[in-house]
Amino acid sequence: METDKLNRIAEEKSSIGPIEKVGTGLKTVMRLENLTKKFGSFIAVNNINIEVYEGETIGLVGPNGAGKTTTIKMIAKLLRPTSGKILVLNKAGKLQALNGNDKDLVRFGFLIDQPFFYDMTAYQILRYFARSQNYQKEKINSRIDELLKLFKLFKWKHEKVNTFSKGMRQKMGIIQSILVDPQIIILDEPQTGLDPKARIEIRATIRELQKLGKTIFVASHMLHEISEVCDKIALINNGKIVAFDTIENLEKNLKEKELHCQLLYPIPHKDLESTIDRINQKLEHYANHNIEVPTPEHNHSVKYNPEEQNFTIYYDGKRESRGEILEILMSEFKSNNKIISFSQPKTSKLEQIYLEMILEDQPRDGGG
Ligand SMILES: Nc1ncnc2c1ncn2[C@@H]1O[C@H](COP(=O)(O)OP(=O)(O)OP(=O)(O)O)[C@@H](O)[C@H]1O
Ligand SMILES: [Mg+2]
Repeated sequence: METDKLNRIAEEKSSIGPIEKVGTGLKTVMRLENLTKKFGSFIAVNNINIEVYEGETIGLVGPNGAGKTTTIKMIAKLLRPTSGKILVLNKAGKLQALNGNDKDLVRFGFLIDQPFFYDMTAYQILRYFARSQNYQKEKINSRIDELLKLFKLFKWKHEKVNTFSKGMRQKMGIIQSILVDPQIIILDEPQTGLDPKARIEIRATIRELQKLGKTIFVASHMLHEISEVCDKIALINNGKIVAFDTIENLEKNLKEKELHCQLLYPIPHKDLESTIDRINQKLEHYANHNIEVPTPEHNHSVKYNPEEQNFTIYYDGKRESRGEILEILMSEFKSNNKIISFSQPKTSKLEQIYLEMILEDQPRDGGG
């Protein structure tokens, strides 16, 4: 039957792809597929792909204007993607495109930008929100008390939220985001504008949510801050995901992709360009084509630092490549110069690369 076929196609389209990572038992709860958002001709979010497994905490980290809030607003359906898909687990245990029937999807909770509250008490605000979300009426009061206690705000239950400190209001925003017991919690800059003590409290809060088995997607421009609580980091810059992995793997990956080569003498100025061109060509074969390193020189295999007369070599990280690269460099510098050291840096590069990303973008006031 023609209609049967169409129904089947529609069903296949609405529940796409494997939801279990083979052999791991990990279940996908959200998948961003080639997600893109343009504002006119400006590409704010550029073809991003992120898979989120149940119970994971993912940090979306990038400088001001990188595209974090835009991504989150698309997940919250406050913005429509220009192209690409957002797939979310539905109650039948399948992935379903976000533009389908919302009621079938697992529940989401959001904290977007700085939360705005009406001139009401903590209790009134939370009760109003729970009712608007059709939370079971008879459970509302006990749920509000439970969360106010968990976040140490119970004492202020009947105080107006407008009198709360910034940290307390941010906690209220987080309480609101988890009030109706969502499976996926999406937090945009939860530590924005908070002092160190309040930021620590927010981290503790995220840890509490992890203990409850929640899947958390948290955007931040503070790599150091957020990496403490995340299982994985997605680095975003200029709308593109430049790396997505566990912090451990990101650091390993970055370390292994760089080699340092120290020369005894500087390369004479007149030979500089030709020498670097030649080395770039010879090392092209070993360049890392898999991952885009967010540094200005990532299109080249080598960077020469004349003051220190050393090279940084960006390569594919393979063991066998290292020996071959050394041979190439030794033959290049055998007659009129000498390689005095050839090594892999031991320090973490992740923070450094992220700082370079931030420096490229002028910070703006007020956030996205
Ligand atoms: N409605 C809009 N119209 C036009 N451009 C927009 C709009 N919303 C965002 N942008 C632009 O898209 C880019 C990404 O913005 P976004 O708010 O997603 O960044 P962000 O990573 O959240 O930054 P921040 O750390 O400052 O919050 C920015 O250059 C921003 O100016
Ligand atoms: Mg933002």
